[in-house]
Amino acid sequence: MENKLFDLASKRRSVRRYTDEHISEEVLHEIMKVALTAPCSFGHRPVEFVVVRDKNTIKELATCKSLGGSQIIGADTVIVVMVKLSRGEFWIEDAAIASSYILLAAEQYDLGACWVHIRNRTGKRKSSEEEIFSLLGVPKGYAVLNLIALGGKAEKKAGYTEADFDFKKIHYEHY
Ligand SMILES: Cc1cc2nc3c(=O)[nH]c(=O)nc-3n(C[C@H](O)[C@H](O)[C@H](O)COP(=O)(O)O)c2cc1C
Repeated sequence: MENKLFDLASKRRSVRRYTDEHISEEVLHEIMKVALTAPCSFGHRPVEFVVVRDKNTIKELATCKSLGGSQIIGADTVIVVMVKLSRGEFWIEDAAIASSYILLAAEQYDLGACWVHIRNRTGKRKSSEEEIFSLLGVPKGYAVLNLIALGGKAEKKAGYTEADFDFKKIHYEHY
């Protein structure tokens, strides 16, 4: 049976090296549009994004995560996924779902993307989150879950096939 979403989702892999392809504003807008459709707790839509395209700012962002931050340096765009805590009882879930939507939307345009974790990570002197807030001028009252790095794929990874998945993990009616 046709399953366009499975076809897309199984092609998606984490891509950590990027070409110098420039993602058009139009494609970026389409990707961000998808992020806004993500389900969220209480319908509060508490997730916000800072879309960073300036190369110097991306380099600065990379230093906000001391271990593993440097992989974003070659990205065309880095999206900071954050949540307004006054509306964020389930902020981690809300941010995670929106992030997943971005990853899938990027694959639709054959772009490489990778989740780079920020929550509970450290930067040069402070938490990764605090350093990101001061770099980007985010007001108080927000929390950052992760970054999503986006760019042309400079590494080719095979997608998944049905053989890669353990269908026994799906339990019907009883465990
Ligand atoms: C909660 C979470 C945190 C992750 N953190 C990072 C990270 O900090 N750096 C990174 O390179 N990849 C990170 N990833 C990507 C995973 O390593 C990747 O999704 C996993 O290895 C499966 O590979 P695939 O995405 O190619 O299917 C993260 C993914 C999730 C869902």
